[in-house]
Amino acid sequence: MIQAEIKKNIFWVGVVDWNIRYFHGPMYTTHRGTTYNSYLLLDEQPTLVDTVFTPFSEDLLNNIRAVIDPKQLKYIVVNHVEMDHSGALPAVMEAAPQATILCSEKAAPSIDKHFSSSWKKQIMKSGDTVSIGKRTLAFVEAPMLHWPDSMFTYIPEEKLLLPNDAFGQHIASSARFDDEVDMTEVMQEAKKYYANILLPFSSLVLKKIEEVVEMGIEIDMIAPSHGIIWRNDPGKIINAYVEWAKGTNKNKATVVYDTMWDSTDKMAHAIASGLVEGGMEVKIFRMSVSDRNDVIAEVMDSELLVVGSPTINREFIPALSAFLDDLMGLKPKNKRAALFGSSGWSRGATKQMDERVKKAGFTLHDETMEVYWVPGEEELQQCSEFGKKLAAGANIE
Ligand code: FEO
Repeated sequence: MIQAEIKKNIFWVGVVDWNIRYFHGPMYTTHRGTTYNSYLLLDEQPTLVDTVFTPFSEDLLNNIRAVIDPKQLKYIVVNHVEMDHSGALPAVMEAAPQATILCSEKAAPSIDKHFSSSWKKQIMKSGDTVSIGKRTLAFVEAPMLHWPDSMFTYIPEEKLLLPNDAFGQHIASSARFDDEVDMTEVMQEAKKYYANILLPFSSLVLKKIEEVVEMGIEIDMIAPSHGIIWRNDPGKIINAYVEWAKGTNKNKATVVYDTMWDSTDKMAHAIASGLVEGGMEVKIFRMSVSDRNDVIAEVMDSELLVVGSPTINREFIPALSAFLDDLMGLKPKNKRAALFGSSGWSRGATKQMDERVKKAGFTLHDETMEVYWVPGEEELQQCSEFGKKLAAGANIE
């Protein structure tokens, strides 16, 4: 990939990973691939901000070499030690042993343990600055956005924010900027990223955005370490983060279920028709054929989650386990939930789901919709009425 000059003498020297489909091991699906964005600042003290994932180390070095000899690098900023951004550090430090790493206090021991304790390092705290010539690197610690070591780098002379993972999206693209791509895709990936990774830290996201606003930082470009660079409308992603962090809901219900012999499937669709009649937007997912991360992105802006399962071994169906477990960790705010399912020889699915949904922080509707074996016409009508009743309780201003 040819390096791009994102501002005068500031180069994108990252790589595009077109083929990655799983990230964080099996935790996160990347249907559209990703990029690992690394930035080279040409100044009196040439500086590299973030590296790339380990297998692309040589590509990064070639991209740097197309601009300068790595031996000229004075600083390497490590905004975050996770391997997708620091995996190429050993290769870069071998090519630029004279460079000093700038990182947060939490990042330093992590660099030592992952790689080497022999490299020169300087710890940066919020408010610290380093002059690199005509420009200044200003640092803002951003713990838990999304790791304890995370840090933003800001270049005031350029009004440029380099926030690492924050405001990023997993999307491979030959284009670099928001005015060159389909923004529907970009926002979908940004939302999925927030829902699956940043959601538990929403209060910290809001605080960090407030802190940056109070500091009077002017931003005309946000260059994250994944995906598209926000040069046309950086406010778009900041505003979206504020809404997601506040837990703003649409008048929308997400129905998530699985089924053995279609009884719970029939119930899901009857409940959904009642929700639609009641005026709600509805998304329906049979979990065994759906992507968990995509479903969680839909849950994030839904006011209501409706979960259904048949009973098997007095439990809910295993196809729902990872989804419910994930929700317990992510804890979305300001949401209602309701449960349904069919059972035959024994009952228990809704009771077992009840515990998990409450633990995930949802306000659980008192009434559950349960049928014995197969729902008949009358019971399907009751499911539809149940949906209407749930829609009537929507808590949307
Ligand atoms: Fe937290 Fe993109 O790594």
